[in-house]
Amino acid sequence: MKYAMAAASGALFVITAGFNATSIADEEAFSVPWGSNSKPGVEPVTDESYRQECGSCHMAYPPGLLPAHSWERLMTTLDDHFGKNVEIPKKHWKTIINYLLNSAAGRVDYQVSNQMIRNIKGIPVRISQLPYFRHRHQDIPEHLVRGNPEVRSFSNCSACHAQAEQGLFGEGRKSGD
Ligand code: HEC
Ligand code: HEC
Repeated sequence: MKYAMAAASGALFVITAGFNATSIADEEAFSVPWGSNSKPGVEPVTDESYRQECGSCHMAYPPGLLPAHSWERLMTTLDDHFGKNVEIPKKHWKTIINYLLNSAAGRVDYQVSNQMIRNIKGIPVRISQLPYFRHRHQDIPEHLVRGNPEVRSFSNCSACHAQAEQGLFGEGRKSGD
């Protein structure tokens, strides 16, 4: 049972049961991240201005969840950010974009980052629409997400992954406690 992580680490507290296992064929399309020395998860957020400016409406997503082109697009379209106008002081904007570009998936060697950029087409601006993300979340029933007031959206990572800001999402990860 893959969902043993809930009990093991307290990482998943919304989801309890009721998923189908993903098919072997699907699994193979995403198996074996390249660098076998890749670190687990994604790099946790380290930049304080990023955490403050980009972590007020939703969690500050670890930069290793999207490739550099995606962060660049997000940072240059902040006046129309998923229906919001996000304003950031110019000096913070520069610090933040540098931080995001340097720590993006493809530029750091973490397992989840390496997976997230697999099979990407175009320049996605949502983590929750990346192929690997969809692959991992495809069996989660709608009523546990949109129909659940404590989750509402797949963008709300930390509702299900208690250690999302620390860059830990999966089973078998050290919980750090
Ligand atoms: C004024 C509120 C607000 C601020 C500040 C904000 N965002 Fe967002 N962001 C949103 C909303 C709303 C969504 C869409 C959430 C949803 O669909 O549930 C979103 C979604 C996102 C997503 C896609 C999440 C997914 O579904 O994978 C990314 C990436 C993102 N924001 C990055 C940033 C960055 C980078 C900053 C800082 C420059 C930032 N946000 C600041 C409101 C904000
Ligand atoms: C409704 C609950 C829910 C939300 C919201 C959610 N996840 Fe997940 N996520 C899960 C479950 C359940 C699994 C385990 C699926 C499996 O094992 O196949 C999972 C698996 C993952 C994995 C695979 C773990 C690994 O080691 O490769 C990653 C990465 C991940 N989620 C990232 C995210 C990110 C990033 C967000 C927000 C943009 C998010 N999740 C939002 C429930 C959720």
